Amino acid sequence: MAEDTLLLNVTKRWYAAPDVIVLVLAHDTGPLPSWSPGAHIAVHISDHVSREYSLCGEVDTSNETWTIAVKLDKAGRGGSRFLHDQVVVGSQLRVANPRNNFRLLPDTVPVLFVAGGIGITPLMPMMAQVQKTGTKYSCLYLGGDRESMPFVGQLEATHGDKITIFASKQQGQRYDLRELFAGADQLHIYACGPNELIDALATESDNHQHVDLHVEYFSPKVVAAHSQAMTDFEVELAESGEVINVSAHQSILDALLDADVDIVSSCEEGTCGTCEVKVISGIPDHRDSVLSRAEQSLNTRMLPCVSGSRSRRLVIDLL
Ligand code: FES
Repeated sequence: MAEDTLLLNVTKRWYAAPDVIVLVLAHDTGPLPSWSPGAHIAVHISDHVSREYSLCGEVDTSNETWTIAVKLDKAGRGGSRFLHDQVVVGSQLRVANPRNNFRLLPDTVPVLFVAGGIGITPLMPMMAQVQKTGTKYSCLYLGGDRESMPFVGQLEATHGDKITIFASKQQGQRYDLRELFAGADQLHIYACGPNELIDALATESDNHQHVDLHVEYFSPKVVAAHSQAMTDFEVELAESGEVINVSAHQSILDALLDADVDIVSSCEEGTCGTCEVKVISGIPDHRDSVLSRAEQSLNTRMLPCVSGSRSRRLVIDLL
Protein backbone atom coordinates (compact mmCIF):
# COMPACT_ATOMS: atom_id res chain seq x y z
CA MET A 1 0.00 0.00 0.00
CA ALA A 2 1.24 3.49 -0.75
CA GLU A 3 1.80 6.08 1.94
CA ASP A 4 -0.23 9.27 2.20
CA THR A 5 1.42 11.73 -0.12
CA LEU A 6 1.46 15.42 -0.99
CA LEU A 7 1.86 17.00 -4.40
CA LEU A 8 4.55 19.67 -4.00
CA ASN A 9 5.95 22.35 -6.29
CA VAL A 10 9.66 22.76 -6.90
CA THR A 11 10.19 26.42 -6.07
CA LYS A 12 14.00 26.61 -6.23
CA ARG A 13 16.75 24.48 -7.73
CA TRP A 14 20.49 25.01 -7.61
CA TYR A 15 23.78 23.12 -7.56
CA ALA A 16 25.48 22.62 -4.19
CA ALA A 17 28.34 20.76 -5.94
CA PRO A 18 28.91 19.73 -9.57
CA ASP A 19 26.79 16.59 -9.20
CA VAL A 20 24.47 17.64 -6.35
CA ILE A 21 21.24 19.55 -6.93
CA VAL A 22 19.23 21.20 -4.19
CA LEU A 23 15.44 21.23 -4.56
CA VAL A 24 13.17 23.41 -2.44
CA LEU A 25 9.60 22.09 -2.25
CA ALA A 26 6.47 23.94 -1.21
CA HIS A 27 2.75 23.34 -1.09
CA ASP A 28 0.11 25.47 -2.85
CA THR A 29 -2.27 25.30 0.04
CA GLY A 30 -0.35 26.28 3.14
CA PRO A 31 2.10 24.86 5.64
CA LEU A 32 3.74 21.46 5.31
CA PRO A 33 3.72 18.81 8.04
CA SER A 34 6.35 19.44 10.71
CA TRP A 35 9.53 17.37 10.92
CA SER A 36 12.57 16.95 13.11
CA PRO A 37 16.32 16.84 12.32
CA GLY A 38 17.36 13.51 10.79
CA ALA A 39 14.04 13.05 8.96
CA HIS A 40 13.75 11.99 5.33
CA ILE A 41 11.02 12.10 2.72
CA ALA A 42 10.21 9.57 0.00
CA VAL A 43 10.01 11.24 -3.41
CA HIS A 44 7.92 9.33 -5.92
CA ILE A 45 9.78 8.86 -9.18
CA SER A 46 6.90 6.93 -10.74
CA ASP A 47 3.78 5.11 -9.54
CA HIS A 48 5.80 2.23 -8.11
CA VAL A 49 9.23 3.71 -7.46
CA SER A 50 10.27 6.14 -4.75
CA ARG A 51 13.59 7.33 -3.38
CA GLU A 52 14.37 8.65 0.09
CA TYR A 53 16.14 11.95 0.64
CA SER A 54 17.04 13.63 3.94
CA LEU A 55 15.54 17.00 4.73
CA CYS A 56 18.52 19.34 4.92
CA GLY A 57 17.01 22.78 5.36
CA GLU A 58 16.43 24.46 8.68
CA VAL A 59 13.59 23.24 10.86
CA ASP A 60 11.49 26.34 11.05
CA THR A 61 8.16 26.84 12.69
CA SER A 62 6.47 28.25 9.60
CA ASN A 63 6.91 24.91 7.76
CA GLU A 64 6.67 26.66 4.40
CA THR A 65 9.29 24.63 2.54
CA TRP A 66 11.21 21.38 2.58
CA THR A 67 14.71 21.19 1.13
CA ILE A 68 16.48 18.10 -0.22
CA ALA A 69 19.84 17.59 -1.92
CA VAL A 70 20.19 14.92 -4.60
CA LYS A 71 23.54 13.54 -5.65
CA LEU A 72 23.61 12.11 -9.16
CA ASP A 73 24.29 8.40 -8.84
CA LYS A 74 25.47 7.39 -12.29
CA ALA A 75 25.45 3.71 -11.33
CA GLY A 76 22.11 3.96 -9.51
CA ARG A 77 18.65 2.76 -10.44
CA GLY A 78 17.61 5.98 -12.16
CA GLY A 79 15.93 8.00 -9.39
CA SER A 80 18.64 10.64 -9.07
CA ARG A 81 19.06 10.75 -12.87
CA PHE A 82 15.34 11.53 -13.22
CA LEU A 83 15.49 14.32 -10.64
CA HIS A 84 18.64 15.82 -12.20
CA ASP A 85 17.44 15.62 -15.81
CA GLN A 86 13.68 16.11 -15.61
CA VAL A 87 12.90 18.26 -12.59
CA VAL A 88 13.08 22.04 -12.80
CA VAL A 89 11.53 24.99 -11.00
CA GLY A 90 7.77 24.63 -11.53
CA SER A 91 7.83 20.82 -11.68
CA GLN A 92 5.59 18.95 -9.30
CA LEU A 93 6.72 16.00 -7.20
CA ARG A 94 4.65 13.55 -5.21
CA VAL A 95 6.21 13.19 -1.79
CA ALA A 96 5.40 11.18 1.33
CA ASN A 97 5.29 12.76 4.77
CA PRO A 98 8.62 12.91 6.64
CA ARG A 99 9.81 9.90 8.62
CA ASN A 100 12.63 9.89 11.10
CA ASN A 101 14.77 6.84 11.90
CA PHE A 102 17.77 8.97 12.84
CA ARG A 103 16.68 11.15 15.72
CA LEU A 104 18.88 13.52 17.64
CA LEU A 105 18.58 12.56 21.31
CA PRO A 106 17.92 15.33 23.81
CA ASP A 107 21.15 15.13 25.76
CA THR A 108 23.86 17.38 27.09
CA VAL A 109 26.63 14.92 26.22
CA PRO A 110 29.01 16.36 23.57
CA VAL A 111 28.09 15.43 20.03
CA LEU A 112 30.36 14.63 17.13
CA PHE A 113 28.86 14.55 13.64
CA VAL A 114 30.68 12.49 11.02
CA ALA A 115 29.61 12.86 7.40
CA GLY A 116 30.85 11.19 4.25
CA GLY A 117 29.96 13.19 1.13
CA ILE A 118 26.22 13.65 0.63
CA GLY A 119 25.80 12.08 4.10
CA ILE A 120 26.14 15.63 5.39
CA THR A 121 22.47 16.28 4.54
CA PRO A 122 20.67 14.78 7.59
CA LEU A 123 23.39 16.16 9.85
CA MET A 124 22.90 19.79 8.78
CA PRO A 125 19.59 20.36 10.63
CA MET A 126 20.97 18.41 13.60
CA MET A 127 23.97 20.73 13.76
CA ALA A 128 21.70 23.77 13.55
CA GLN A 129 19.69 22.39 16.45
CA VAL A 130 22.62 21.68 18.78
CA GLN A 131 24.07 25.07 17.93
CA LYS A 132 20.83 26.62 19.21
CA THR A 133 20.65 24.51 22.37
CA GLY A 134 24.26 25.16 23.34
CA THR A 135 25.30 21.48 23.45
CA LYS A 136 29.02 21.07 22.77
CA TYR A 137 29.47 19.78 19.22
CA SER A 138 31.86 19.37 16.35
CA CYS A 139 31.69 17.91 12.85
CA LEU A 140 34.10 15.95 10.71
CA TYR A 141 33.10 16.18 7.06
CA LEU A 142 34.94 13.68 4.85
CA GLY A 143 35.11 13.66 1.07
CA GLY A 144 37.35 13.09 -1.92
CA ASP A 145 38.02 16.67 -2.90
CA ARG A 146 36.64 19.90 -1.54
CA GLU A 147 34.98 20.98 -4.80
CA SER A 148 32.82 17.85 -4.88
CA MET A 149 31.62 18.22 -1.27
CA PRO A 150 28.24 20.01 -1.08
CA PHE A 151 27.57 22.89 1.32
CA VAL A 152 31.21 23.29 2.42
CA GLY A 153 31.20 27.10 2.29
CA GLN A 154 27.80 27.38 3.97
CA LEU A 155 28.84 25.03 6.77
CA GLU A 156 32.14 26.80 7.40
CA ALA A 157 30.33 30.16 7.53
CA THR A 158 27.75 28.83 9.98
CA HIS A 159 29.84 26.58 12.20
CA GLY A 160 33.34 28.08 11.96
CA ASP A 161 36.01 26.07 13.75
CA LYS A 162 33.45 23.49 14.91
CA ILE A 163 33.68 21.88 11.47
CA THR A 164 36.68 20.07 10.02
CA ILE A 165 36.67 19.49 6.27
CA PHE A 166 38.89 16.57 5.29
CA ALA A 167 39.34 16.02 1.54
CA SER A 168 41.33 12.82 1.20
CA LYS A 169 42.59 13.45 -2.35
CA GLN A 170 43.98 16.84 -1.38
CA GLN A 171 45.37 15.50 1.91
CA GLY A 172 46.95 12.54 0.11
CA GLN A 173 45.64 10.14 2.76
CA ARG A 174 42.47 8.87 4.39
CA TYR A 175 41.35 10.13 7.78
CA ASP A 176 42.32 7.87 10.67
CA LEU A 177 38.95 7.31 12.37
CA ARG A 178 40.60 5.90 15.51
CA GLU A 179 41.45 9.49 16.48
CA LEU A 180 37.76 10.18 17.05
CA PHE A 181 37.55 7.61 19.83
CA ALA A 182 40.70 8.58 21.69
CA GLY A 183 39.18 10.85 24.39
CA ALA A 184 37.90 9.43 27.67
CA ASP A 185 34.75 11.59 27.81
CA GLN A 186 31.25 10.41 27.05
CA LEU A 187 30.40 11.16 23.44
CA HIS A 188 27.51 10.73 21.01
CA ILE A 189 28.55 10.22 17.38
CA TYR A 190 25.94 10.77 14.67
CA ALA A 191 27.22 9.50 11.34
CA CYS A 192 25.89 9.27 7.80
CA GLY A 193 27.79 8.29 4.69
CA PRO A 194 28.91 5.35 2.60
CA ASN A 195 28.57 1.91 4.19
CA GLU A 196 32.35 1.56 4.35
CA LEU A 197 32.57 4.61 6.64
CA ILE A 198 29.65 3.55 8.84
CA ASP A 199 30.95 0.00 9.18
CA ALA A 200 34.41 1.28 10.17
CA LEU A 201 32.88 3.55 12.84
CA ALA A 202 30.71 0.70 14.14
CA THR A 203 33.71 -1.61 14.43
CA GLU A 204 35.72 1.01 16.31
CA SER A 205 32.85 1.97 18.61
CA ASP A 206 32.49 -1.65 19.76
CA ASN A 207 35.78 -1.16 21.62
CA HIS A 208 34.83 2.14 23.25
CA GLN A 209 32.13 2.06 25.91
CA HIS A 210 32.10 5.85 26.26
CA VAL A 211 30.89 6.35 22.68
CA ASP A 212 27.26 5.99 21.59
CA LEU A 213 27.11 5.65 17.83
CA HIS A 214 23.96 6.62 15.89
CA VAL A 215 24.05 5.98 12.16
CA GLU A 216 22.09 6.28 8.97
CA TYR A 217 23.02 4.14 5.99
CA PHE A 218 22.75 5.40 2.41
CA SER A 219 22.35 2.00 0.93
CA PRO A 220 21.48 -1.37 2.43
CA LYS A 221 24.03 -3.15 4.61
CA VAL A 222 24.99 -6.55 3.30
CA VAL A 223 23.52 -8.86 5.92
CA ALA A 224 23.64 -12.59 5.42
CA ALA A 225 20.81 -14.70 6.77
CA HIS A 226 21.51 -16.06 10.27
CA SER A 227 22.45 -19.74 10.47
CA GLN A 228 19.16 -20.36 12.33
CA ALA A 229 17.03 -18.45 9.80
CA MET A 230 14.04 -20.44 8.57
CA THR A 231 13.48 -20.74 4.84
CA ASP A 232 9.73 -21.34 5.13
CA PHE A 233 7.79 -19.99 8.07
CA GLU A 234 4.47 -18.48 9.12
CA VAL A 235 3.44 -14.98 10.07
CA GLU A 236 0.40 -14.58 12.29
CA LEU A 237 -1.47 -11.28 12.35
CA ALA A 238 -2.10 -10.62 16.03
CA GLU A 239 -5.50 -8.95 15.78
CA SER A 240 -7.25 -11.14 13.21
CA GLY A 241 -5.35 -14.36 13.92
CA GLU A 242 -4.83 -14.88 10.17
CA VAL A 243 -1.78 -17.01 9.40
CA ILE A 244 0.23 -16.33 6.25
CA ASN A 245 2.90 -18.64 4.85
CA VAL A 246 6.20 -17.08 3.78
CA SER A 247 8.04 -19.21 1.27
CA ALA A 248 11.77 -19.38 0.64
CA HIS A 249 11.69 -16.95 -2.29
CA GLN A 250 9.43 -14.33 -0.73
CA SER A 251 10.02 -11.46 1.65
CA ILE A 252 7.58 -11.21 4.54
CA LEU A 253 6.37 -7.96 2.98
CA ASP A 254 5.63 -9.70 -0.32
CA ALA A 255 3.73 -12.45 1.46
CA LEU A 256 1.68 -9.87 3.40
CA LEU A 257 0.90 -7.88 0.25
CA ASP A 258 -0.05 -11.05 -1.64
CA ALA A 259 -2.51 -11.75 1.17
CA ASP A 260 -3.97 -8.23 0.82
CA VAL A 261 -2.72 -7.15 4.24
CA ASP A 262 -2.74 -3.38 4.70
CA ILE A 263 0.95 -2.48 5.17
CA VAL A 264 2.84 0.59 3.98
CA SER A 265 6.23 0.22 2.30
CA SER A 266 8.60 2.37 0.32
CA CYS A 267 12.27 1.45 -0.27
CA GLU A 268 11.79 -2.32 0.09
CA GLU A 269 15.50 -2.66 0.82
CA GLY A 270 15.55 -2.13 4.59
CA THR A 271 16.77 1.46 4.67
CA CYS A 272 13.74 3.75 5.08
CA GLY A 273 11.85 2.27 8.06
CA THR A 274 8.43 2.69 6.43
CA CYS A 275 7.35 -0.96 6.72
CA GLU A 276 8.30 -1.37 10.40
CA VAL A 277 5.99 -3.61 12.44
CA LYS A 278 5.82 -4.60 16.11
CA VAL A 279 6.72 -8.18 16.93
CA ILE A 280 4.50 -9.82 19.55
CA SER A 281 6.27 -13.19 19.65
CA GLY A 282 8.89 -15.13 17.74
CA ILE A 283 12.44 -14.15 16.81
CA PRO A 284 13.01 -12.14 13.63
CA ASP A 285 16.15 -12.58 11.59
CA HIS A 286 17.05 -8.90 11.29
CA ARG A 287 18.62 -7.87 7.98
CA ASP A 288 17.68 -4.18 7.89
CA SER A 289 19.86 -1.06 7.93
CA VAL A 290 17.54 0.97 10.18
CA LEU A 291 17.42 -0.56 13.66
CA SER A 292 20.51 -0.38 15.86
CA ARG A 293 22.04 -3.60 17.14
CA ALA A 294 20.51 -2.88 20.55
CA GLU A 295 17.06 -2.34 19.00
CA GLN A 296 17.37 -5.53 16.96
CA SER A 297 18.37 -7.54 20.01
CA LEU A 298 15.08 -6.62 21.75
CA ASN A 299 13.15 -8.41 18.96
CA THR A 300 10.15 -6.12 19.47
CA ARG A 301 10.28 -4.42 16.04
CA MET A 302 11.27 -5.57 12.57
CA LEU A 303 11.41 -4.50 8.93
CA PRO A 304 9.52 -7.16 6.95
CA CYS A 305 10.74 -6.01 3.53
CA VAL A 306 14.15 -7.60 4.16
CA SER A 307 14.10 -9.44 7.49
CA GLY A 308 13.22 -13.09 7.97
CA SER A 309 12.51 -15.33 10.91
CA ARG A 310 14.41 -17.66 13.19
CA SER A 311 11.13 -19.01 14.55
CA ARG A 312 8.63 -21.28 12.82
CA ARG A 313 6.02 -18.59 13.52
CA LEU A 314 6.25 -14.84 14.01
CA VAL A 315 3.29 -13.00 15.50
CA ILE A 316 3.19 -9.38 14.40
CA ASP A 317 0.96 -6.48 15.36
CA LEU A 318 -1.12 -6.14 12.20
CA LEU A 319 -4.78 -6.65 11.42
S1 FES B 1 10.07 -0.48 2.99
FE1 FES B 1 11.83 0.67 3.57
S2 FES B 1 12.57 -0.44 5.31
FE2 FES B 1 10.98 -1.67 4.53
